[in-house]
Amino acid sequence: MSRNIFLIGFMGAGKSTIARTLCDLYEMKLVEMDEQIEAQEGRSISRIFSESGEAYFRSLETELLEDLEQMTNMVVSCGGGAAMREENIAIMRKSGSVIYLSAEPETIYDRVKNAHTRPLLEGHMDIAYIEELMAERHPKYQNAADFAVKTDGRNTGDICKEIIEKTRVTAKNVDTVSGHTN
Ligand code: S3P
Repeated sequence: MSRNIFLIGFMGAGKSTIARTLCDLYEMKLVEMDEQIEAQEGRSISRIFSESGEAYFRSLETELLEDLEQMTNMVVSCGGGAAMREENIAIMRKSGSVIYLSAEPETIYDRVKNAHTRPLLEGHMDIAYIEELMAERHPKYQNAADFAVKTDGRNTGDICKEIIEKTRVTAKNVDTVSGHTN
């Protein structure tokens, strides 16, 4: 079975860009969680947050991950908060490798400052807030992931290559471990 790749990390860490490139380069299927949820709900993430609340959005994320459980050979670009729930991480780890894309707060700010699509950053679009939220989330991303990849100042192709190389190693290790125990 072809294992899946789940990209987790802060808003603006590069998950969508890297997911798209991985799919182009390695012929995998792309799942963009935010887009899928928007299509399913027929409204934007901002409207889901303002009309139905964050808790409702978080439950949609878990439901979507459950729906994807049987799929293979996909790259999932996860919403930045998806890895905050233990149950979501457990679902991801069952079918794939979990990769934490990281970037410095300054880099994140530069990437997200002109967008108004992220309700959590509306009214807090500054480096200090990004730093604070990132400090809270970083340990969870780190714990959830098989490995982390820094994205600051790097080109997309290099990042994808690193992910594919390390994912193969990780997959091999998983096989070896199960080979010993069976
Ligand atoms: C969120 C990240 C967003 C989106 C929502 C909440 C978060 O996705 O799911 O605005 O909690 O970090 P991106 O990480 O793709 O921006």
